[in-house]
Order: sequence, then structure tokens, then C-alpha cells
Amino acid sequence: MNKLKLAILASGRGSNFEAILTNIQQKKLDAAVQIVISNNSKAGVLELARKNDIPAMHLSHRQFDSPEQFDEKLLSVLKECGANFIVLAGYMKLLSAKIIGAYRNRILNIHPALLPSFGGKGMYGIHVHEAVLAYGCKVTGVTVHLVDEKFDHGAPIIQRCVPVLSDDTPQTLAQRVLGVEHQVFTEALRLFAENRIEIRGRSAFIHQ
Ligand code: GAR
Repeated sequence: MNKLKLAILASGRGSNFEAILTNIQQKKLDAAVQIVISNNSKAGVLELARKNDIPAMHLSHRQFDSPEQFDEKLLSVLKECGANFIVLAGYMKLLSAKIIGAYRNRILNIHPALLPSFGGKGMYGIHVHEAVLAYGCKVTGVTVHLVDEKFDHGAPIIQRCVPVLSDDTPQTLAQRVLGVEHQVFTEALRLFAENRIEIRGRSAFIHQ
């Protein structure tokens, strides 16, 4: 693949975006961020992008009469900015089959648990950690996975365990998991940058 030219889609504060950007700036990842797009005009991630002179755009389904019009706009924005890879960094909206088809095997999502556990509808952000603690799990973790048409379903690229401690609250657990997210998202992107990922069936294999 050519050099990774990333479009970051995010809904919130953007700490995963920030970690990726720092790694690019420190030359730990050979990639460029072409644009940051958020469905939330007040998202911290847009502010972070602007501070770093990266094009930042608020783009929401609410601005359009139909999902098709949203898709058309998103695709044209992605094309115009030259993005060849999409990073969902805390993006709380589903991408349509059309977008996924246009960027097949070139969309990564990060999930704050070990999929397929604690994924799917309603499982995002702090709710994931609440559910992990309510279940009494001894370990949780992070999954970076390809995005396909089903929610939280595409092939995992990296999964990493994080222990659950007996005095964890959802907040302390979220914090510890987030620290790992910041490492593994860049690790997964590096595998793509180095052309080391091969997709066979529904699995991703890593070439050493
Ligand atoms: C991250 O913990 C990410 O794993 C989660 O949202 C947070 C975004 O944080 N994503 C999901 O729950 C997706 N199902 P950030 O804005 O600081 O990167």
C-alpha cells in the first residue's frame, strides 16, 4: 500500500487521535493525517486538530436530508483530502455499507474490550467498563479491528489484555485501558504502513 493517509473520524475528546498524531510527529509511525471529521461540533478532537493545523470538519447525518446524501458528502470529502485509510477513534456512529465497501480492509476501529465480548449495541465508552466490572471479569483489554458491515465484528488486528483489579471502578479501569489503546492503535497502523497484514477469510495474519 502507498503511504497511509489517514482520515480520523471521532466523536469525543480525541485522546486516541492525539496519541496517533504524536507518534507520527515523533516518526514512530509513517503516516499523515489528512483530516479529522467529527459528528459532534463541540468534540475536543476538532479543537485538537485545529491546534495542530490539521483540517477539522464537523459532518453529521443531521445536516443532510438522507443517509445517502451524508455518504456522498463523506466520500467526496475523503477523496478531496486524499485519505486512503479511515481510523475510527471513538466514533460513535455506524458507517454505511457504501463507505465500508469503498474503503474495504482500510478502516480500523478501536474498542475498549476484548471482542466479541462486551461489544455491540450500547457498548461504548464507560458502559463497556461498567459491564466488564458487573460481570466480575478478571481481565479485559483492547481490540483494534477492521470494520465490516456488522457492528464490532471485523477481523481483529491486535488484541491486548488488561487486568481488572479488585478495587477498580469503571473510571480507573477506563483509564488503564485507555493507556493501552494509545499504544496499540499505532502498532496496528504500523502493520498496515509496513504492508504486513494479509486478510484470509475473516482473519488478519501478520507477516513478521
Ligand atoms: C476510547 O476508549 C475508545 O476505545 C472508545 O471511545 C473512547 C474514545 O476516547 N470507543 C468505543 O467505545 C467504540 N465502541 P478518545 O476520544 O479519548 O480517543
